[in-house]
Amino acid sequence: MRYAFYILIPLFFYSVLDRLFDTWLPTNYRFSKDKLVELSREVIANHPDGNATAIMIELAPKIKAEYPDLINDLNFDDWVYNNAGGAMGTMFILHASISEYLIFFGTAIGTEGHTGVHFADDYFTILSGKQLAAYPGALAPEVYLPGDCHHLPRGDVKQYAMPGEAFALELAQGWIPAMLPFGFMDTISSTLDIHTFYRTSYFTGKDMIRNLLNGKF
Ligand SMILES: *[C@@H]1O[C@H](CO)[C@@H](O)[C@H](O)[C@H]1NC(C)=O
Repeated sequence: MRYAFYILIPLFFYSVLDRLFDTWLPTNYRFSKDKLVELSREVIANHPDGNATAIMIELAPKIKAEYPDLINDLNFDDWVYNNAGGAMGTMFILHASISEYLIFFGTAIGTEGHTGVHFADDYFTILSGKQLAAYPGALAPEVYLPGDCHHLPRGDVKQYAMPGEAFALELAQGWIPAMLPFGFMDTISSTLDIHTFYRTSYFTGKDMIRNLLNGKF
C-alpha cells in the first residue's frame, strides 16, 4: 500500500504542472517568438555571407534593447558546452528564468542527436548554417535555413542534426527546471566535464535567481 504513494505522488505533481502549463504558466511569458524571429531576420539580411559571429554580435544588443530588463549583460566570453541527447554544441545564455530561457546555441563543427522530451515549447530560429530534423517514420528530413523557426512542441521528440557550422537563437517556454536533467545527464553518464557543469549551473542558477528577485518567474 505504501508503495502506491511512490506512484501517486509523482502523478499528482505531474497533473498539477500539466494543468498549470496551459493556464497560469503562460501568463509569465515575456518573450515573443514572433518578435525574436523578426529581429533575427532583420540581422540575417544584413549579413548575406552568413557570418555567425557578426550576426550574433549585432542581434544580441537588438534583443537587449527590446527586453532591457530580461537580458544579461553581454559578455561573449561566457560560452559553455552543452552535451545532451548525444549531441554536442556550445551555448550562450541570454536569459534564464523558471518559465523561459533564451540562448544562442550552435556548433562550429556540426552535431547530431536526440532533441530530448521537454515540458516546454521550443522555438529554434536558425541564424547561420542549417538544421535537419525528423520524426520517427519520417523518411525525408525537415530542413530549416537561416530565418526559419523550428517549433518543437512540448513532449514531441525528433532526431536532429546541424551538419557543419550552424548557430541558432533558441527560445524555450514552459517548465524550464524540468528540462535541466536532460541537459546534465550526458555530463554525469559520459563526459564527466565538471568544469562545464559548474559554469552552466552557475550561469543558469544566477540568472534564474536574479530574474526571480526581479519578479520574473
Ligand atoms: C566574421 O565577423 C567577425 C566579427 O565581425 C569578424 O571578426 C570575422 O573576421 C568575420 N569572419 C569572416 C570569415 O569574415
